[in-house]
Formats: sequence, C-alpha cells, structure tokens
Amino acid sequence: MVTLLENPLRVGLRQERTPEPQILVIFGASGDLTIRKLVPALYQMKKERRLPPEMTIVGVARRPWSDDYFREQMRSGIEEFSDGIDNEELWQDFAAGLFYCSADMDKQEDYQKLKNRLEEIDTLRQTRGNRVFYLAVSPNFFTPALKNLGAAEMLKDPIKTRIVIEKPFGRDLSTAQSLNRVVQRVCKEEQVYRIDHYLGKETVQNLLVFRFANAIFEPLWNRQFVDHVQITVAETVGVEERAGYYETSGALRDMVQNHLLQLLCLTAMEPPNVMNADSLRTEKVKVLQATRLADLDNLENSAIRAQYRAGWMRGKPVAGYREEPGVNPGSTTPTYVSLKLLIENWRWQGVPFYIRTGKRLPKRVTEIAIQFRAVPLLIFQSVAHQNNVNVLSMRIQPNEGISLRFEAKMPGADLRSRTVEMDFSYGSTFGVTSSDAYHRLLLDCMLGDQTLFTRADEVEEAWRVVTPIIGAWDAPSSQDLVAQYEAGTWGPSQAEWLINQDDRRWRRL
Ligand code: BG6
Repeated sequence: MVTLLENPLRVGLRQERTPEPQILVIFGASGDLTIRKLVPALYQMKKERRLPPEMTIVGVARRPWSDDYFREQMRSGIEEFSDGIDNEELWQDFAAGLFYCSADMDKQEDYQKLKNRLEEIDTLRQTRGNRVFYLAVSPNFFTPALKNLGAAEMLKDPIKTRIVIEKPFGRDLSTAQSLNRVVQRVCKEEQVYRIDHYLGKETVQNLLVFRFANAIFEPLWNRQFVDHVQITVAETVGVEERAGYYETSGALRDMVQNHLLQLLCLTAMEPPNVMNADSLRTEKVKVLQATRLADLDNLENSAIRAQYRAGWMRGKPVAGYREEPGVNPGSTTPTYVSLKLLIENWRWQGVPFYIRTGKRLPKRVTEIAIQFRAVPLLIFQSVAHQNNVNVLSMRIQPNEGISLRFEAKMPGADLRSRTVEMDFSYGSTFGVTSSDAYHRLLLDCMLGDQTLFTRADEVEEAWRVVTPIIGAWDAPSSQDLVAQYEAGTWGPSQAEWLINQDDRRWRRL
C-alpha cells in the first residue's frame, strides 16, 4: 500500500534533489539582477552542494566581455552582495563553469552564434543538451528574445529546454495576452517559468503549510468568521536608481498585479487536492477570476493612489519622488496604492480584502492579517475597547512569524480583559534565516518544478483585476488627481478614508 509520504503527488515539500547537469543561459548578464541576486544565489547553492558538478552558467549581454572578465565581475558580485568567498578551491570550481557570450538580443545572427557556442560548451561540460534560458532583461527585449530563440530552434525540445521570464509580464491585460501568444508560438507552457520572487519567499510558502497542514484554522477561514483581511507590503526605500523602469510602471503594476495579488491568492484559495503545479495554480486562478474591485463605477471609493513628497525617514530628510534622479518633475506615477477588493465566491462573499503598498513608508513590513468577527455580545469590560477582536497576522518579512491576538483576563479582582498576543517566530524557532527567494526559484526551475511560477492564465487573470484601474488612472483627464503623502508617513489621508468608510481601520504596524 502506498502511504501518504511515499506518494510523490501528495508530498507537500519538495525532496532535496540535485538538478540534472545543465547550462543556465542568463540574458542580461551585465545587469543588476545577475550580479546582485542570481549569481550569488547560484554560488550559495554550490556551497550547499545543491548543484551538479557539471553545472554551467553562460552570461549573455551586449558588452564585449571575455570569459575571464565575466568571472571577475561575478566574483565581485558574490563578495559584495552575499556571504563572500571563503574557499578559493570552491570558487575556482564554480568559476570553471562560468562563460560569457557577447550578443545583441535583437539580432537573429547572434543567436546562431550563441547556439554554436552553447553546443561547444555542452560537449566540454557534459551538460547533455539541458538548457535554461533566463530573461533577466528589460521587458522590451522579451518579445525579440523569444522570437529569436524560437527561430534558432533553441526551445524546440520541451523536455531539455526551459525559459524563465522576469517581471513585468506585460503592462496590462492585452499586452500580457500578446506576450503569452509569443511564448506559445515558440514553446510549450510546461517550459515556461514566469517569475514572481514573492513566491520564492519561505514565509509565503508557509502560508500553504499553515493553512493546509493544520486542521484548526480552516473551519474559520471564511465569511462566517472573518470580518476582513488586510494585506500590507510597505517599503522604506524610495525609487532608488530605477526611475527609468519605475516611471513607466508605478506601484500598481510594480507590486499589486504580481506580489500583492499572489499573497491574496494564497490567503483566499481553496485547498488543492494534491500539491503539484497545476492543482495549485488552478486554485489561484479561480480566486483571481472571482476577484474584483469593490466599486468599479466609483473608482475613488475603492482605489487610492498617491506619490511620496519630501519628508523624513529615521531622522534624515529625504527627497520627494519628483526630485529623484531620472524622474520627470511633473510625474504622476503612483508610489502608493491601496485597494478594496471583493472575492465573489462561496467562501469570501462580502469579506473585503484591503490591500496597500507603498514606497517611503515608515517601516519595511509585509503582513497578511485576518481579522475575525467581533464577539456578538461583550460581557467583559475591555481595556482596549476598539481593538478587542481576534487577529491572526502572518508576517512575511522581516521578523518572519505568525501571531494571534486574543483577549485575556487581567490579573486582579475585577473581571477585566486585555488584548494579548501569542507569537511564533521563524528566527527563534528554527534558528536559521530564510534563504533568498531566488535561491529557491532557480533551483525549482532547474529541477523542472513549476509550482512557484505563474501560469499563462494566472498572469492574465491578475492583469484583468487591475486593468480597469490602469485604464482610469492612465487617462489624461485623471492625471492631476494623484494625491501626495509625506515620505515617512503611512500614505495619503484618502487611504485612511478608504477603510474608515467601512468603520474599519488599517493596522498600526
Ligand atoms: C520588486 C519591485 O518586484 O519587488 C520593487 O520591482 C520592490 O520595486 C521589490 O522594491 C520588493 O521586494 P522585496 O523582496 O524587497 O519585498
């Protein structure tokens, strides 16, 4: 008889497996993502012996670098952005698998050159024709790269070749659909790994374990017991050096369409029957299909946008968004968004999901809070009159953990209650810091596990949710309606109103 643990479909947690020998081809090899995240994560995996000895990385970019220069650049990236190199022999072994190929992503002939080079390297490193192509480039290059890879027949083998596509996947529903059509013309869906790095976070995956490996919460996880849900992704950083990209994106496209809606899906979805990529993603798609803005006809009642102006962060003055390098001084790009969403299905009908995200907020915190209904009759005197409802909060980052707020009797002769918290902390329980999201995602892709990547229909449904807002906000007539908030505060007063109009308030984090 097959026990639960022996059945691979039912094993929720991936076994520690080593990927097949393969070449990871990174387009955008001279860019930030490669240097700060991808190569340091790969080196860390090498240290942990998670990579096969034949593992090979080929960097592709326009600059005329040599293999040796690429190796030096990657070494300094590892030194600057991770734990560094403390074992020279290990580094030499890793570096022997690093190669560079200069190519222009727009030029078909350069793909033929790359193809030939990959074939040589494949023989040299014995990587058995297995290739992952990682598009760590600006989205303008997604379509030409896909078409050219297709024309050069580099994605022909659905078993041995895969493609990783970074965000943003489109700018709205119709551009995402066109990009999906390009993808579908050159390869099969099972070869495609659309990245949302939030899914690589340990605590985001723990949402699944927390919900579906514990019996006590699931019966309460519905409209009968939940009053509302708040999802916050607050950042202290401003736009940094990314104005070129951010000016064309803004908080709705940059954070809501992907990271926040993914958090919403994992919070709201039905339990999948088995833990595999298709079941999980199908359940997420169902949530998105049922999700809509609370008041589409009067957008200002359920969608707030704003931009940070100059203010103070930790006692230091900081510039406003419009004064940041590369930002148009008349820019109306929102750096803050809050929405009131409804999920119209049996589980969630009538339960609002308030979501908010912003840059230059007072604290870096990502949290999902399930606020339960109040007791029907308050028979005890409470010290915290307003707040005595149960809240389950899942801290995604930092101080990763989960806490449950409830009422307890205060010591003394009176029967008075006070709100207390029961807390679980990742750090103190497991004694390790969670690994970088890219580490997990790269490994899963090399192993051929699509569970933590978004499927074509999923990405389109997420765009469907936000596209009406994009349409209204991008209209020239609404450009001067972008509110401002002082850097270092929790956003504009309109965002307070968004939730206060329902007699609720944002959590103080
Ligand atoms: C990225 C956005 O996807 O996520 C950035 O483009 C944002 O603007 C970042 O700062 C936040 O990620 P994290 O992992 O720091 O919460």
